[in-house]
Amino acid sequence: MARSGAAPSTPDPTRADQAPGGPPAGGGFGGRLMRRKPVDRLVAEGGHGDGGELKRSLGMWQLTMISIGATLGTGIFVVLGEAVPEAGPAVVISFVIAGLTALFSALSYAELAGSIPVSGSSYSYTYATMGEFIAWLCGWCLILEYGVSVAAVAVGWGQYLNELLQGTIGHTIPDALANPPGEGGVVNVCALAVVLLAMAFLLRGARESARVNTVMVVVKIASLVLFCAVAFTGIRAGNFRPLMPLGMAGVSAAGATLFFSYIGFDAASTAGEEAKNPKRDMPRAIILSLLIVTVLYCLVALVAVGAMPWQQFGDADAALALILRQVTGQSVWAVLLAAGAVIAIASVVLTVLYGQTRILFSMSRDGLVPKIFSKVDPKSGTPRANTVIVSLFCGVLATLVPLGELANATSIGTLFAFALVNVAVIILRRTRPDLPRTFRVAFSPVTPAIGFLLCGWMMTSLGAETWKWFGIWMAGGLVLYFTYGMRRSQLAREEV
Ligand code: ALA
Repeated sequence: MARSGAAPSTPDPTRADQAPGGPPAGGGFGGRLMRRKPVDRLVAEGGHGDGGELKRSLGMWQLTMISIGATLGTGIFVVLGEAVPEAGPAVVISFVIAGLTALFSALSYAELAGSIPVSGSSYSYTYATMGEFIAWLCGWCLILEYGVSVAAVAVGWGQYLNELLQGTIGHTIPDALANPPGEGGVVNVCALAVVLLAMAFLLRGARESARVNTVMVVVKIASLVLFCAVAFTGIRAGNFRPLMPLGMAGVSAAGATLFFSYIGFDAASTAGEEAKNPKRDMPRAIILSLLIVTVLYCLVALVAVGAMPWQQFGDADAALALILRQVTGQSVWAVLLAAGAVIAIASVVLTVLYGQTRILFSMSRDGLVPKIFSKVDPKSGTPRANTVIVSLFCGVLATLVPLGELANATSIGTLFAFALVNVAVIILRRTRPDLPRTFRVAFSPVTPAIGFLLCGWMMTSLGAETWKWFGIWMAGGLVLYFTYGMRRSQLAREEV
């Protein structure tokens, strides 16, 4: 691994055994699981891959757009329609509850992103605070949050593309080519196409991808604002009565469902090694993107339940498009919205795929996954092989595998990672009080503790089937760690 930029100092931050917060003294099985990678070393290694360095080209605006790009998509365009029958018009409150859960964790992300500005996101934060084993589990959950969710989101993209094609040219892609086997299709070509398109942009470089993403984010925000402006005229006060037809239990169940729509605000924290001023910009980008997305979600939900009786949401496939059709009596608005959704979901695929490649980049540099993932192409300054492998993996997953419940496990995996980030803030405040922090969570440890409890509470409100798949996923992760990562990690090799 190239570590040319890691200037040694006293103590040498690149040496685990010398830096503060290093692995606990003593070996043994427990000691190996707990070995930590010190913050100074993580930061010193930042940007360096095998054979080259990542390019620092992203400013605060682009980082914010990466987070919004990864967040705003299927949740508001599709999942809202599933949450309204649970909560009734009070779905707006459900969005606020899910947003608050996300906000507590976002504050913790902001603090850690400002003090450990690397690309591994929560994986790196746990490596520095809770040790290698927990870090591996966290990284393995991030593959659910990013890799598996890319595949799931890409599948949804094909459905909106069909709606757009139907509304414009009157034809759709045949079911056999628009669905995976087991869900009425043979090969989901649409899903593969959007993943390959995203791969093509990512291979050109982070800056180019960020530019394309910014345009897509502007389009998706514009299409939701357009929805609000048009559907606003259809709001009827009677649609808000009764506000909670299924009681508070329904509202909180819908909150857990809608948490999916907030997943992705942490994507900026995977860009730490390509940001121009990561310590300053990443915390701002994380908080700003979450605030923008929360306001948009609440507005769209308010207008949607005001314009259509809540009982009708259960039967509607694309609820927002249906509302526009009902309010205006014309289909042109619904077609415009479908175009917005196609672009919105494509931008989720692009940014989440980006995040996944950067997390694996960090894990590979630490030796927990093969070295090919941290190889940097000197010309483009991107991890090319990593990008191709991850894209093909996600593309094939979306094309051939009916993801079903595994995709539902995305939320649980994400909540697990968020919970760890809250704990990491508390630990780092104790072990490294001296660390420069560009953003500090107020009232720590109370605030991160609340963030942790909220994540745990949301995890418990997810169904038994989701937990079963999560268990299977984690068991796979354990096998991989004990057969590969534990022996091959960089820290393990240094011990030898
Ligand atoms: N939050 C992302 C979406 O809603 C995953 O598509």
